[in-house]
Amino acid sequence: MLDVFVCIGSSCHLRGSYDIIGGFKSLIEQHGLQDKVNLSASFCLGHCTDGVTVKVGEEFVTGLNKENCEEKFNQHILSRVK
Ligand code: FES
Repeated sequence: MLDVFVCIGSSCHLRGSYDIIGGFKSLIEQHGLQDKVNLSASFCLGHCTDGVTVKVGEEFVTGLNKENCEEKFNQHILSRVK
């Protein structure tokens, strides 16, 4: 199981964490990864100035937004579980 934490700390929240959670949720369903990816919300991950931050396993991915959500998902999550 790959743990994915989306930061919902105040800075990331303001920059659209919930769009990323929603986007990741539907991408996980779309690819049938419900039993491979464990998506959770997290408090501040310590990268507040770098845009919405996500922790994938031990890796930090920063600068997520609605536009690049799918690309980052494919690059950092899909590639690790398929
Ligand atoms: S609020 Fe998200 S990294 Fe700090």
